[in-house]
Amino acid sequence: MRSLFEDPQDDLKKLPFEEVQARAERCTRCRLKDSRTRVVFGEGPVPCDLMFIGEAPGEVEDQTGRPFVGPAGQKLTEILASVGIQREDVYITNTVKCRPPGNRLPQKDEMDACWPYLEAQIHHIKPKIIVTLGNAPTQLLLRTSEGITKLRGQFFPWRDGIEVFPMFHPSYLLRNPSKAPGSPKYLTWQDIRKLKARLDELRASAPKPSEP
Ligand code: URA
Repeated sequence: MRSLFEDPQDDLKKLPFEEVQARAERCTRCRLKDSRTRVVFGEGPVPCDLMFIGEAPGEVEDQTGRPFVGPAGQKLTEILASVGIQREDVYITNTVKCRPPGNRLPQKDEMDACWPYLEAQIHHIKPKIIVTLGNAPTQLLLRTSEGITKLRGQFFPWRDGIEVFPMFHPSYLLRNPSKAPGSPKYLTWQDIRKLKARLDELRASAPKPSEP
């Protein structure tokens, strides 16, 4: 008999967070199961005001089971630190939890197969702001085919009062090191300051635990 927790039709949002992670770690919903070394579920506090969604685990992430720990992760940590945000204080995950072969972009059916895990993570993490890094997570959440260059640096109302804030992917910044005005790096330093200001504003207006 199938256990209560193993029905693929289950609404993962209704399961405890640890069970969602356990399910992801033995997931066989798409072809990425065949090439992965480790499932990279995500890491950070739960709940958490600020959540980052990248594209897909890369080689170092696949080896370690942790998101954004390779060169792109070091760049992300640096960007966060520039406005006083510690990496340990944000939740970080990806649109898909397994590395696509050769670091190709995740395909639509792979992101769709992984969506119930991401949706359940968002449900438990309850972020005020979700930062989408690059095209894949931005287009997935905002259901658009518009590119990151047009969408970055703006707050989009999403579900349950959550705001989505697209930013360039850190790998893109590694490939484009210029800091000249208008360059991706220059725009990202503007975006991260805008993000921090909005986060501070939302935190300041949140009811204190003692308030009704
Ligand atoms: N790039 C991503 O999009 N995610 C990771 O976890 C690492 C690199």
